[in-house]
Formats: sequence, C-alpha cells, structure tokens
Amino acid sequence: MPSTTENFDVIIIGSGIGGLTLALELAGSAKVVLVTKRALADTNTRLAQGGFSAVLGEDDALDLHFADTLTAGAGICREDVVRMVVESGPTAVKRLLGQGVQFDRDPDGTLQLTREGGHSRRRVTHARDATGLAIQTALTQRIREHPEVTVLEHHHAVDLITRARLAKGRGSGHPGDRDDRVLGVYVLDTESERVRALAAPVVCLATGGAGRAYVYTSNPKVATGDGVAMAYRAGARVANMEFFQFHPTLLFHPIENNFLISEALRGEGGILRNSDGEAFMARYHELRDLAPRDIVARAIDSELKTRGDASVFLDMTHLAPDFLESHFPTIHGRCMSVGIDMRTTPIPVVPGAHYMCGGVQVDQDARTNLRGLLAIGEVSCTGLHGANRLASNSLLEGAVYAVRAADTARQLLADATPLPKLDLPSWDAGDARSPDERVLLNHSWDEIRNLMSNYVGIVRSNRRLKRAERRLELLYGELREDYWRYLLSADLIELRNLCTVAQLIVRSALMRQESRGLHYSIDYPDTDDLNWRHESSLRRPVYD
Ligand code: SIN
Repeated sequence: MPSTTENFDVIIIGSGIGGLTLALELAGSAKVVLVTKRALADTNTRLAQGGFSAVLGEDDALDLHFADTLTAGAGICREDVVRMVVESGPTAVKRLLGQGVQFDRDPDGTLQLTREGGHSRRRVTHARDATGLAIQTALTQRIREHPEVTVLEHHHAVDLITRARLAKGRGSGHPGDRDDRVLGVYVLDTESERVRALAAPVVCLATGGAGRAYVYTSNPKVATGDGVAMAYRAGARVANMEFFQFHPTLLFHPIENNFLISEALRGEGGILRNSDGEAFMARYHELRDLAPRDIVARAIDSELKTRGDASVFLDMTHLAPDFLESHFPTIHGRCMSVGIDMRTTPIPVVPGAHYMCGGVQVDQDARTNLRGLLAIGEVSCTGLHGANRLASNSLLEGAVYAVRAADTARQLLADATPLPKLDLPSWDAGDARSPDERVLLNHSWDEIRNLMSNYVGIVRSNRRLKRAERRLELLYGELREDYWRYLLSADLIELRNLCTVAQLIVRSALMRQESRGLHYSIDYPDTDDLNWRHESSLRRPVYD
C-alpha cells in the first residue's frame, strides 16, 4: 500500500501571533506546514484589545518593565527570561511594523503608548482597542504571500506521534522516555473527516490557551487547551497550570457576556464602582483601579459575594465623549449594540477567565523536554509570567519566542542526521461510528465548564478542588470510552482536551499549598516562600 505520510521539516500548529511569526521566519528556508483548526484568523490573538508592551517611551526603562513584570509574577518569574523578553520588546515592535501592523501614533508620528494595570509607565503600543486584530490581519496577509508555506486550515491536530507512543503499540515505551522524540502529528481534516499523518523532525505548538474551560471567558471557541493536552499525553512537562488569569472586566449581559472590556479603559481613567456607586478599589489596593489584575479580580469577586450583586460597574462617564469614541471604537460599538452608552452610563462588568499563565514547560529556546517538540505563546510556560501575567506581556512573549523557536528549529534541522522519509502508521479508527447521542457530549461540555467555574475559580478551597477532581475523573473515564467508540470530530477532540486541561489545573491547584498570584486558597491564605517559591510541574508517567 502506498505511504500516506506527508513529510515536512517543521510542523506548526496554531495561527496566532506565535504560529504566523514562526512560519514567516522559516518561510523559504525550510519545508513548513502550518496547521490550524478553523480559518487562519480564528485565533485568540485576533481578540486581544489592549496591546503589546515594550519599552519605547522617553520616561521608561528596561529595568522598570523588568521590575513591573516581576512584581506581577509574585516571586516565581524566571528572571533571566524576563530580562531577555523585555530587552527584545522594542525590536519585536519594529518587526511588526515592518510586517505592516498599523499601531496608533501621536500627531508627531511617535507610537502612542497607553497604560494598563501593573505598569508603572505608559508602554502599551496599540491599534485603538483592536490591537490583536491589526496584528492578525497583517500577519495573515504576509503568510498568504508565501505559497511555499503549506497552510492547512480546518485541520484539527489530534495527537502528537512520538517514538515511545509507537513503541507502546509493540508493548514497550513510556511517554517522554529519555530517547523519546516527536515524529509528527495526526490531524483531522474536518471537512473531509479524514485523518492525515504529517511527519517532521520539528513540531511547534502555538495553539493558545484554554479559557473555554470556564463559563465566563474572554476567549474564543477555539481556546480549548489542545496543545497542553496533546503535549501532556505525549510526555512533555506541564507547569504552573494553577495560575489561570481572570480578567476583571468582561461585559455583564445576557447575550454578550463574553465580551472583553479592555483594561486600557482603566488605564485612561475608568473607575470601578459597586452598586452604591462607591469607588471600592480604594479599599483594596493603593494603586486602586490599576492594581495588578489578580487583586482587582478578587476585589470584584468579594464585592459581588458580600453584596449579593450580579455585577459591578466600570464608570467612564467623567471622560470626554469624543475621546471615548475615538480611542475605544470597538468597545463603544459593542456596548451600544446592547443598549449601553458608556459615555453616559457605567458599564456592568464581571470577571472572566482570560489567560492561562501555565502551559508546556519550555527553556529560553522554546524547547520542551521532548526532543523535537517546541512550544510558543500561551500554550507554553516560559517563566515570563510567573504566578500572574502583567497586562499586554503576552503578545510580546508570543512574538519574541516565535523568533527564538525559528532559530532553534534551524539548529535542530542542521544538527539532525537526515531523517529518512517517515512512513507512519495510519490512524486506526477501529469500529468507531457516528455519535448517536449528541446530548451526552453537550452535557459533558456544560458539566466541565460549570464545575470549573464553581469550584476552581478566583477563590479556591481544598474541598471544592477535591470535589472537582472526583467529578473530572469520572467525566474523563466516560470521554475516553466515547473517544474510541465514536468517529473523530472536532467536538470530541476538543472536549477530551478540555477535560485533560481542567484536570491539570485542578491537580496543580491541589499541589500548591499556599496562596500566590492568581492562585488563592482559603485553606492556605498566606504565601509560603520557603516551600513554594517555584514552578509546579506535572508529567504523565505512563500510558493508560
Ligand atoms: C486588555 O485589553 O485588557 C487585555 C490585555 C491583556 O490581557 O494583556
């Protein structure tokens, strides 16, 4: 039978800022395939509002950005990484400008900088309130100009193919064994419903986060933690999963409840008020509305719980109406579409899941512990964010690590004894059939998201976490059965991945017996520097 394996030099999974930048860096010098599960522009990057942080202002300094990042990270950032990323910031902005990203400028032509929580200076470059869209659009256009990069849209990565995994079929091999390496990826073409085997000596995950593990989230539907789950299954180390960042301000509305109200609004003077009109942040932190995000989100959570209110309010009514319209056209438009005029009425807001600070553990060159497997952007844990990410440091991280991953990929390709063209086993669907009871899958989605929101949210306790752990184990068992019983679909792949990520979050949260940054436990309300000033880390020991 002829081989159905398609061979490449580098497989990139994900098409946000990290994946696209990496593909552009390698275009022409390596045989690259970019795999993305929906359309090229269906990413979390596209939804980023606030911006891209880099030291560009005259009153700013690299040391200040370094210090602000460390303060937000609550003691467990990797300092060498923070230094390297902060120093790379200005060049990364220049590169994006070169790729055609239109950042806003002041009348004198200099880049306009705004401020967000935790930043001691104005250092956030932006394109009005749709910075991610400007970046996504420019990079998507650039990649379309490179026909030598194979782009597979509507292709869902299913599983990494590793040496150990193939050996397991022959009765040996453990995930991440010392001589283990990644060989490729199975991907599901969601239009033809065919599973394809792609082979390459280098695979880079750029799959983004997992906000869909929660009911309220700023993340798009694609954010189901696929990269973390696949990497964990393959034996890669996963770190800091307990640190899930909740953005303080998502629009509170029965239909538009997942729409982000950018922190840049508070950066420009917005004030959070409770239902009595009190500017309550003064009671929680000296930086008031610009306190680090974890503190603002917890303060709102506490106001809601003690007062029994459904939302708090972001008041912009004291700012000039023209300023609001011109600086925040997206937010203004979306609020108006549901009858809220932020020029005259405070916006009802609640916190929601926003950013996964943990992920697949990588070194400064984007390498995981599994040979040939790289990870960049939100799917990775580089050590930049520590226990809490500073606003607008994530696009920066994605852009910087994509360039480093390109260097690493080139090195790996140069060092590799030429790998023979691989002929990987075809995907074995066994006697799987179409799901007959869709309702069961829908119910599992709801169950995961509800239990994560109720038991594994902003404030945690051992009791709630253990309850979540038990429920998730049961769900995972059922999903495993469904997974092999039913024909593969995007829905089933995402559901299994989301469940794995939820389990990793819960297990990491149970492990960390202290409160730090984004992880707050009522059972351990203090920070324990003696025992816990380090990243948490998990690795799958055996194939089950
Ligand atoms: C925002 O605009 O508030 C989001 C910025 C970020 O999360 O980095």
